[in-house]
Amino acid sequence: MSHSTATSTETTRRSYIGWLFGLCGAAVTAILSAPLIRFTLFPLTVKTTETKWSDAGPVADIHGDKPITQTVKVEQVDGWRKNVSEKVVYITKDATGKLSVLSAVCPHLGCSVQWQDAKNAFVCPCHSAQYESNGTKTGGPAPRGMDTLDSKIVNGRLMVRYQYFRQLVPHKEVIG
Ligand code: FES
Repeated sequence: MSHSTATSTETTRRSYIGWLFGLCGAAVTAILSAPLIRFTLFPLTVKTTETKWSDAGPVADIHGDKPITQTVKVEQVDGWRKNVSEKVVYITKDATGKLSVLSAVCPHLGCSVQWQDAKNAFVCPCHSAQYESNGTKTGGPAPRGMDTLDSKIVNGRLMVRYQYFRQLVPHKEVIG
């Protein structure tokens, strides 16, 4: 075998081994990247801002005709991120004893509406919107009454689904 033929065979063997290593490297990279890609895309593949039901306490503790102020823990799941915050709601009872829950967020510009015993009304401290105890608007610049939140009774406890609503529009519109 001549010197040049031996060199050519050696070169071919080296390039074949190089190609084999390259292929193995690509396969390993693909296998290792799969979970990473799945992890990265996970937030895009699930429903965002899913709000869980919040516990507003035992129904047996709700007495009287005046709205009751309650702070609820709100858990929101946004992709793989979980956010827990506390929100104020008002629990009201109509003449038949039926419970409903109102968001404290003013539908005008989002200030926190407060119940005032002296006026027997909800009053917004920002621009003086006023609402009856059931949330019906009675005065001020708000475009609609206070927003009711979904609620249900489970094992004697009042559960609330906290949501956010668009401000400055005449009809209740969920935004998250
Ligand atoms: S924010 Fe409540 S009246 Fe303006």
